[in-house]
Amino acid sequence: MKILLAEDEKITRKSLTDILTAEKHEVVSFDNGNQAYESIKKNDYDVIITDIRLPGMNGIDILKNAKELNPKIIVIIITAYASVETAVEALKFGAYDYLIKPFSPVQLLSILQHIDQLKLVLSENENLKKRIALLEDKTIIGSSEKVKSFMNTIKTVAPQDYTVLIQGESGTGKELCARTIHNFSTRKNKNFIAINCAVIPETLIESELFGHEKGAFTGAIKKHIGYFEKANEGTLFIDDIDDLPYNIQVKLLRVLQEKEISRVGSTESIPIDVRIICASKVDLKQKVVEKQFREDLYYRLNIIPIFLPPLRKRKEDIPELLIHFLKKHGGEDKIQFLNDDIYSTLQKYNWPGNVRELENITERIIALSPNNLINPAVFEPLLNSPDKTEQDKTAFEHYDNFDQYISNKEKEIINWALEKSSNNVTAAAKILKIPRTTLRSKMEKLLITNYNES
Ligand SMILES: Nc1ncnc2c1ncn2[C@@H]1O[C@H](COP(=O)(O)OP(=O)(O)OP(=O)(O)O)[C@@H](O)[C@H]1O
Ligand SMILES: [Mg+2]
Repeated sequence: MKILLAEDEKITRKSLTDILTAEKHEVVSFDNGNQAYESIKKNDYDVIITDIRLPGMNGIDILKNAKELNPKIIVIIITAYASVETAVEALKFGAYDYLIKPFSPVQLLSILQHIDQLKLVLSENENLKKRIALLEDKTIIGSSEKVKSFMNTIKTVAPQDYTVLIQGESGTGKELCARTIHNFSTRKNKNFIAINCAVIPETLIESELFGHEKGAFTGAIKKHIGYFEKANEGTLFIDDIDDLPYNIQVKLLRVLQEKEISRVGSTESIPIDVRIICASKVDLKQKVVEKQFREDLYYRLNIIPIFLPPLRKRKEDIPELLIHFLKKHGGEDKIQFLNDDIYSTLQKYNWPGNVRELENITERIIALSPNNLINPAVFEPLLNSPDKTEQDKTAFEHYDNFDQYISNKEKEIINWALEKSSNNVTAAAKILKIPRTTLRSKMEKLLITNYNES
């Protein structure tokens, strides 16, 4: 430890310095209180050992001033028998302990040993606190243009009560975004309730959403409060909304319009004030075209659309995410071993499971590299072959019929051209070597909407 010793008796100063140095402590000593205090101001000491009576500033004032500079600093007071009361007083001002002269070196060393243990516990505690904060942390990581763009939308719409529809592949952070919107809203101190339409059996979904009265149906042995009521005044996050059965879609639409619900088996209307955020892994508009999702509900939900890009389209976020997940899962000591080879290995991969997959792999890396060291060889076996999912999608066997396959291919190519031309239709038509009007009508047919007219 780095120790400051303030003691005006030359012999005591010298012998204490020798004892402490022999125990591998770094000791700086002073025979004057003012000089000692000047040094405390400029240096980071772990422990201050000070006599009470000193030329210049006395030990008690050193204690008070040092504590003011750094409340965590540890101070040990040395005193002659005559001033024990002052020493007790010193404890009130936050001294860690006191020693009465004459004392044996063993006494001092045992106090220092306790301090060492205390410091260890405190720093472990500090680390745990940091990790807990990160685990609960709902901040969205990423500085790519794509992340900045949806973050802007989130921050703008969060304080208002608009219904938001978040679309993106699995693991892109839809639920995280929904929670972020809630946390940025005026409802942040009220409930955030998340439900998933894909996991609730079709027969139960209505009573889960709206609740039921006792005896409403066979098995309804007692009254049940639904998610809408539980989320009252807060936010209801409806995940996998595309899985909501068609007959319930009508009921949801009615609730959204009338802002009241009735429990199954009851005619009483209960007013509700809930902000709705929905999410879908599939293109909900396509579901409307296929007549599996009601158009009127679609427009009601899609007031503010947010599209979360897959990780493969924003690979520049990978390093930042990797560091974030290493910290989050207790692998902070590995950050120093990250290098360009690791990043380029990760950037070659296609990330079909998106950010969740990166988080899972990071957790496995921590478990698989006990000696701090991580290198690309650790990652490689965890990553499936690059571009696997892209190839899968293009395989004809995944489509119902030829037309659907061709439409999808057309869509892929047009999207590619739009991406290359920053969504400018004229420029995209040039790339594809087709007339602009042809491209526009194809886009209309394929429901491609991410373009700029020019
Ligand atoms: N940008 C991000 N920054 C930090 N963590 C993220 C980010 N995106 C996703 N995550 C983390 O990745 C994991 C998956 O995110 P989330 O559950 O929100 O995805 P999802 O889109 O809802 O997935 P699914 O469609 O499978 O339900 C979570 O642990 C989440 O905290
Ligand atoms: Mg989710």
